[in-house]
Amino acid sequence: MATVKDQGSAAESGSRLIQVTPGQGVRGTAFVPPDKSLSHRAAMLGAIAEGTTVVRSFLTALDTLATLDCLRALGVEVAGPKDGTVIIKGRPGSSGAGAGFDEPDHVLDAGNSGTTLRLLAGLAAPHPIFWVATGDASLRRRPMGRVIEPLERMGARIMARRGGLAPLAITGGALSGIVWRTSVASAQVKSAILLAGLQARGLTRVEEPAQSRDHTERMLAFFGAELRRGEGWAELQGPQRLRGRTVTVPGDPSSAAFFWVAAAILPGSEVRTPEVGLNPTRIEVLRVLEEMGAEVDVRPAPERGPEPAGDVTVRGPSELRAVRIEGRRVPLLIDELPVLAVAALHARGTSQIRDAAELRYKESDRIDALAHELRQLGFSVETFPDGLGISGPQRALGGEAWSHGDHRLAMALVVAALAGKRPSVVKGTECIETSFPGFAAAMDRLARPGNARVVEQPA
Ligand code: S3P
Repeated sequence: MATVKDQGSAAESGSRLIQVTPGQGVRGTAFVPPDKSLSHRAAMLGAIAEGTTVVRSFLTALDTLATLDCLRALGVEVAGPKDGTVIIKGRPGSSGAGAGFDEPDHVLDAGNSGTTLRLLAGLAAPHPIFWVATGDASLRRRPMGRVIEPLERMGARIMARRGGLAPLAITGGALSGIVWRTSVASAQVKSAILLAGLQARGLTRVEEPAQSRDHTERMLAFFGAELRRGEGWAELQGPQRLRGRTVTVPGDPSSAAFFWVAAAILPGSEVRTPEVGLNPTRIEVLRVLEEMGAEVDVRPAPERGPEPAGDVTVRGPSELRAVRIEGRRVPLLIDELPVLAVAALHARGTSQIRDAAELRYKESDRIDALAHELRQLGFSVETFPDGLGISGPQRALGGEAWSHGDHRLAMALVVAALAGKRPSVVKGTECIETSFPGFAAAMDRLARPGNARVVEQPA
């Protein structure tokens, strides 16, 4: 993996930047983009289901568009996204009546998306085709051995670069079920194995050291699969058929978290995010903000589909309290930890984020890269092999920071800059397109009543 210094040498490569002028708080209502995890899964399950699947409020962003392109390359008929709707005609393989996936004649590109590459490996491995998949420089640095190993045990043949890195070359075929205990709590690994197991012969069971997000389990049941599950485990008997469904995707709580934290750290703020996903494995961030002293109001809507959703309002207190985040809580917060570190900077006392070494294997090394860039903005931060130590309250002094090509780092740095003493620039913000197109404009709307500005422009 490249060091922070190596990555820093590519800082000039960003094509966009965000200028942040701090102000007095954020106020208003923000509709956040549809959930990324759910959009990937709805499309992938639709691809192996019998009949037609309609995904409403599909996230139109680079990561999820990469999933649709990969499915098309495998012969799946995908229409859209048009006005946020995607229509998929499934190609079930051995588990269904259809012919399964076609062998693609070109290399599949998962772009920046670990979910695309890892879940697709499990989804397509039971189909008797040869295919090659890769991604951008960040994805080609991320560990794929964690899905290669179980899928090979199930009967797939997979070649990778040394260290289990993409590109991956996969020869699929008839697979057998597996009982697999993962060494890290990872929804992507669990999902890859369950998707392969669904189309394999016999029992597949995944056990993880702590519960990770459970969207795949919920979505499988919604598409008609039978599975059993409990805290930290899920199992199913294969092969099983899925039936195409209509899925409406709620707003992404991981995208909303940038607004929630902005409201929490800027006294006098109030932000409402309507129709956001309320899956308990995704909204631990709200519990943490509450513990830190923010006022959080959650109003669930009537359930209509595989996932709960509703409106969330966060109000900023006059002062936040420090927090310790560790253990089984970490997988439930994994994508929110960069922005929670920003919240901790603004809290009184010493906060720690520990047991979070997984952060080093995300779109960037989110421990070293985040600490390095926060220091560029004038903060003092301590790093550990498995997390961060933060004493507060501190405010950004102003400066220039770089995203490291990581969307969540870019957005977390903008939030930190917004609560700063002087203007800042966050460079390399084009990566935000992977999950949250329109982020800067949405944050700008919330910040304007407090005379702050968040403006994106070409670098
Ligand atoms: C995801 C799972 C998480 C998360 C990623 C999306 C998913 O990764 O970080 O952004 O959709 O399954 P791991 O569960 O592998 O840590």
